[in-house]
Amino acid sequence: MRLKFALLFLILVVYSFAYNPVKSNDKDKALADNSKKVKVKKAELTAAQDEDDEGSKSLDEVEEDAGIDDDEQDDDEDVKEVPKKKSHVKQKKSKKPPAKKDKTRKSKKNDQEMRPIPESTSIPNMTSFDFFEMAREHRIDKLREIINDTPTGDIAKMRQITEELKDEIEEEDDSNEYQACNADTSPDNELCHCDVHEIDCSEITMESGDPYLRTLDVAIMKKDFEPITAKFTKNKISRLQNDKVLPKFEKFVSILDVSYNEIRFIDNDVFKPFTNLTKLYLSHNVLQTVKKDVFDAAKNTLHRLDLGYNRIKVVSDNSFDTLSKLKVLSLDGNPIKAWRKEMFKGLDSLEELSLDNCNIENLPADIFEYLPKLVKLSLRENPLEEIPAVVAHLKSLKDIDLSVTNLTEIRDHAFAGDSDLEEIILEKMPFLTVVRDCGFCGLPQLKTLILNDNKYLQELHPNAFGYIKSQPGHKSAAITSLQIHNSNISTISEHMVDYDNLKTFQVGGNPWNCNCDTQFMLEEKFAFKQDSVAPKCTSPAGLNGRLLVTVRASDACEDARFLGRSGRFSSVLGLALLVGFIAIGTYYMVSSGKLERLVRRVRKEPEVTYTNLQNAGEDFALETDFQPRPAEV
Ligand SMILES: *[C@@H]1O[C@H](CO)[C@@H](O)[C@H](O)[C@H]1NC(C)=O
Ligand SMILES: *[C@@H]1O[C@H](CO)[C@@H](O)[C@H](O)[C@H]1NC(C)=O
Ligand SMILES: *[C@@H]1O[C@H](CO)[C@@H](O)[C@H](O)[C@H]1NC(C)=O
Ligand SMILES: *[C@@H]1O[C@H](CO)[C@@H](O)[C@H](O)[C@H]1NC(C)=O
Repeated sequence: MRLKFALLFLILVVYSFAYNPVKSNDKDKALADNSKKVKVKKAELTAAQDEDDEGSKSLDEVEEDAGIDDDEQDDDEDVKEVPKKKSHVKQKKSKKPPAKKDKTRKSKKNDQEMRPIPESTSIPNMTSFDFFEMAREHRIDKLREIINDTPTGDIAKMRQITEELKDEIEEEDDSNEYQACNADTSPDNELCHCDVHEIDCSEITMESGDPYLRTLDVAIMKKDFEPITAKFTKNKISRLQNDKVLPKFEKFVSILDVSYNEIRFIDNDVFKPFTNLTKLYLSHNVLQTVKKDVFDAAKNTLHRLDLGYNRIKVVSDNSFDTLSKLKVLSLDGNPIKAWRKEMFKGLDSLEELSLDNCNIENLPADIFEYLPKLVKLSLRENPLEEIPAVVAHLKSLKDIDLSVTNLTEIRDHAFAGDSDLEEIILEKMPFLTVVRDCGFCGLPQLKTLILNDNKYLQELHPNAFGYIKSQPGHKSAAITSLQIHNSNISTISEHMVDYDNLKTFQVGGNPWNCNCDTQFMLEEKFAFKQDSVAPKCTSPAGLNGRLLVTVRASDACEDARFLGRSGRFSSVLGLALLVGFIAIGTYYMVSSGKLERLVRRVRKEPEVTYTNLQNAGEDFALETDFQPRPAEV
């Protein structure tokens, strides 16, 4: 027993000695750990300080603190981070003064601990618009409910609310008014260029203080100036505020260009005083939503609206509901996730729609159902692998641009619905290699086809526009402009289109194979004056590098050798020879009396043949058949 005790004691002593050496062995590591701890502590401290400073902190930073980034994918977000974010928002809203910092922090803690137990709070039919209509307080409550419920799918909704809250909080009245069009008072230092009916405040850099223009609140000093066009592009404007956009001159402005700024928020009533606003350019800003109310104010005059290259992810149904006068709309370059026909509802006059660079892989067949007048559609720079069916089936559509898409070939009847397309543009296609048999069939109205700069395009099928002898209306016969420059085409068929009808025919920059098939292009009528790069032969080797206009058909094609350069001439010669032979033959027969004998022999033939008799009999039988029968007694 005593031995055991002693042993235990010994082990304890050994252990206590052994412990320290281990620690000292790993001294470096331990040190590093320590400094890390210190750093973490420091970070915590600064974080705490930051929290206290929240009143002056932008929500962006708050959001970053919370680990949520604007550009991040919604799905990637950790739900756990959400409560933290929410409490930040609340703090920000309440704007507690720094003096009460301890209290603030405590209250935050309490807030988290004492949060009510989640009730059933699923809000399936809530849209962003509903949220917007609600009071801010109410929305915060909703936010809390959603957070408590923590359904991952609602994060997008929550983000929307915080965005809106942020927008409302951000940038309270900073009315810094500048004097513009002040050439008379300070001729060397005029802010904005004002001329005739245009005020141009683009790309302003000022010398004193903040060099950037962040407002549209400028005082126009020029007398009797009526700014019909107002340009404020490439500045750092972040908000369009009520009564702060060209105040007192609103009614003159017809064209307002505020593209390339940092606009994140637009007040609802900002366009109310703009009674003559027809064109509004808002592209290249950071707008996240399309607010119906904003554009409602200009609904009677607005013809053109450019919302391209913003950060719009969702266009809610009926967003453009009241813009029945709008003719041109651009939503280019926005990461819009879902395409539904309802988002275009109400755009009764829309003629041009641009959806370039929207990451569209396909479009629903009914997407443009509410656009009865859509004539022109641009889908450039989308990863389309097929031509969307709606393109071929939309009766009103006349111009389509499918350039820079992932199409690999133009298939048989690719556009043939019941299509009235007049212009098709397929430029700079990274994968397009071939236009198949009948690829442009069924396009009786097609006037312009542009296939420029398709470096892999090698083949245009001879029947690409319809069979050579096809029915009228089937062959695309109206074509007047065919452009295929800078592609990889070496041959095209003489019969592909009616080249005589072409007003524009550009073929430069292709590796032409100058042989009997392409000999027709060597005719004098083709001067290729519209080509910026004159077309050249690449093969055969003997003609490599020669301009098409300098090559004689006889050099390219053996058969053409004795018939001269013009193919047309050869056929004329052939016809002349044929007529000559017939004339000689006829003369010989007449002069030798053979013709007279022939005529006499024909006359001797019996006049009524067996078949004639039979036919007559049948006619008679028919006639009796049609006699009305006597009534039976
Ligand atoms: C949501 O649906 C409920 C009934 O399910 C209805 O009472 C409520 O008004 C709807 N809310 C909205 C915003 O449509
Ligand atoms: C409205 O704008 C047009 C140009 O779009 C201009 O001709 C017209 O004078 C403007 N009307 C007023 C009242 O300024
Ligand atoms: C389309 O092509 C681009 C390259 O041009 C490629 O990055 C993208 O993944 C393609 N998209 C699809 C859906 O194939
Ligand atoms: C161009 O076409 C030729 C065949 O006509 C082919 O051998 C070549 O690889 C093509 N070039 C490109 C860039 O596709």
